[in-house]
Formats: sequence, C-alpha cells, structure tokens
Amino acid sequence: MAHTLPPVITIDGPSGTGKGTLALGLARQLRWHFLDSGALYRITALGAQAAGIGYDEVARLCAFASGMEVAFSTVFEGSILLDGKEISDQVRLEESGAKASQVAALPELRAALLQRQRDFRQPPGLIADGRDMGTVVFPDAALKFYLTASAEERAQRRYKQLINKGVDVSLRSLLSDIQARDERDSTRAVAPLRPAEDAIIVATDDLTAEQVFELASRRIGEALGINAV
Ligand code: C5P
Repeated sequence: MAHTLPPVITIDGPSGTGKGTLALGLARQLRWHFLDSGALYRITALGAQAAGIGYDEVARLCAFASGMEVAFSTVFEGSILLDGKEISDQVRLEESGAKASQVAALPELRAALLQRQRDFRQPPGLIADGRDMGTVVFPDAALKFYLTASAEERAQRRYKQLINKGVDVSLRSLLSDIQARDERDSTRAVAPLRPAEDAIIVATDDLTAEQVFELASRRIGEALGINAV
C-alpha cells in the first residue's frame, strides 16, 4: 500500500547543476539509500557496447539492462559496482554521458529500467537523482527538488572539475556537448527533462554546493520534520 512505502526525495535537473553532489550529501547525512539513475543509463550504454549490442537492437538492449547487477555506495566519492566490480571512473566519463543520453531516448529501455529504479526504495528512505525521478519514477515523492543553472555556468563547473583532475578539455567543446545533451533530453518523446509541478526549483548559478545543501536541508526539515543538517 502506498502509505507504507518508505519516503523518497527526488533531485532532478540537467547535468552540471550539482544534483549528484547534493543527492550524495543528503543520502549520507540522512543515512538513506541512494539511486544514481543516470548511472543506470550510462552502465547500460557502456555494458551493451562491450557486449557488442547496438543501440538499435532494442530487445537485446532491454534484456541486458534487466539482467545487470548494479549497486551504489555512498562511501568515498560514491562508488558504482557492476556485477560486483568497481566501474565508477569509466561511468563518469563525458562520453559515457553522451552514450547514455542516446539509449535513454528509447521508450522500451526506460520501461525496462522503471521497476529496477523503484526497487531502490527501501527503508529508511531513498534519495533519487536523475531527470524524471519526480515526474515518472517517484511521482509520490515526499519532496522534489529541481536544480537549474545556465549551460555556460555548468560548462565552467565541469571544466574546473576536469582540469583539477588533470584531464585536458576545451571549455567550448564541453559547452556544446552540454547543449546537445540538454536538447536531446528535453525534446525526447518519453520522460523529457522538465520539473514536476510540485518541485522546488533551485537556481544554483550563484550558490555554492554548501549553500544548495543548506537550502535543501532546511526544506527537508520543514516538510518532513527530519534533521538533515
Ligand atoms: O545524470 P547523468 O549525466 O549521469 O545522466 C546521463 C544521461 O542519462 C542523461 O543525459 C539522460 O539522457 C539520461 N538520464 C535519463 N533519465 C534519468 C537519468 C539520466 O534519461 N533519470
């Protein structure tokens, strides 16, 4: 029954808005479970490619996505395990995001991943990070956040992150990748990127990650009566 299900807090928005950082921070603070739904699409795209499955072979792709064994840990940077193997570095590459966005446009694949995502809803609660967490996967979430930032700001953030990691990238190509991915994610027919009607919209352009965390924690405290700070 719906009222016996553990609570969910959803965090949606385009890439580079700080969703992942906020989601991981809240999951750690509350000691709740964590779903990185983007990683599921990334892993599907990478795993299928490694298995020689083309992105147009929809039935094989869905069978692969249904069978893969994925777990997320909130320890350290937030590790991702596929069939028990640590694959976080590969999953987080820019090109994996672009591949994910291709397979994510397939309605059959989204349907194949729907129940898997809902299975992450376990006591004491779940923080779900993605694009359609509040609109499609957990429409009954206790609280929904939707993070935004201009494409230029998001490209800048990503640029700094990658340069700090010693990765050589151009700001211009990052910006055009972000714009292409936004376009594909917002215009697709199924579950396009958009805020849920009851989402709290947080414009993060002029906020630090700490400020976003504080703001979200305050809203969680007010809405659910739990202390996330
Ligand atoms: O959030 P992340 O950058 O890891 O997502 C990678 C891609 O996966 C997105 O660009 C989007 O196309 C897709 N995605 C999605 N629905 C989600 C999460 C991610 O379509 N809930």
